[in-house]
Amino acid sequence: MAQPVIKVENIKKVFDMGEVKVRALDGISLDVEKGDFVSIMGPSGSGKTTLLDVLSALLRPSSGEVYINGRPISKMDDSGLAVVRGQTIGFIFQTFNLVSRMNALENVMLPLWFQGVPAGKRKKIALEILEDVGLSDRVDHKPNQLSGGQRQRVAIARALAVDPDVIVADEPTGNLDSASGEQILKIIQDLHDNKGKTILMVTHEPSIAEKAERMVFLKDGKIVKILEKGVSK
Ligand SMILES: Nc1ncnc2c1ncn2[C@@H]1O[C@H](COP(=O)(O)OP(=O)(O)OP(=O)(O)O)[C@@H](O)[C@H]1O
Ligand SMILES: [Mg+2]
Repeated sequence: MAQPVIKVENIKKVFDMGEVKVRALDGISLDVEKGDFVSIMGPSGSGKTTLLDVLSALLRPSSGEVYINGRPISKMDDSGLAVVRGQTIGFIFQTFNLVSRMNALENVMLPLWFQGVPAGKRKKIALEILEDVGLSDRVDHKPNQLSGGQRQRVAIARALAVDPDVIVADEPTGNLDSASGEQILKIIQDLHDNKGKTILMVTHEPSIAEKAERMVFLKDGKIVKILEKGVSK
């Protein structure tokens, strides 16, 4: 079997708040294979966002190791890690996190600029992806001139700009009405089913989590259950 695209081994994350130490993650191991669709569920404060941040190497664990395509991140410095992360992972957030003074096109072009892609090519790629998410007629709009669902589609287009293997989404439909949320989920499902993307998604909604091949349940920073399409472990 090919090596996991992301692997975490006995991860612990302790936030040191002086007198109080918060054990946000308490010994988590998980393999994410290429083409996986994993949803992460659990009560508020159970460590879902922290796990997603560690899995995507935004946050270094207090102990344990994270491997991206087999490479241990503890051996990488922050700038090396940023490069690996930028090429491998695209992020979608609950609050979209778009740059407010840039229009949709410029937002999608931004990660390509960071990757050193020439201007003409940046524009061509960004326009193509915006068309894929149904926003060809909104490329000049700034985030505050777009609906929530449209903003999230711009954010998805931005995540896809560098053609990452893995899409990481933290409650991507959390701020959307159900129709817009459904549209976003369709796009995410299509990225998995037809574009071969690996998906890691945090959600509170069981009906959304069920779209995944694997549902990972967290409680108090530990994995308490893993459900695989119809099978429980
Ligand atoms: N930067 C931080 N500093 C200190 N404590 C933190 C920090 N980030 C998270 N925590 C704590 O770690 C625990 C896990 O937080 P996390 O954000 O991962 O939860 P979550 O499962 O995503 O919750 P929610 O469903 O509300 O988003 C919480 O108790 C939280 O208060
Ligand atoms: Mg969270």
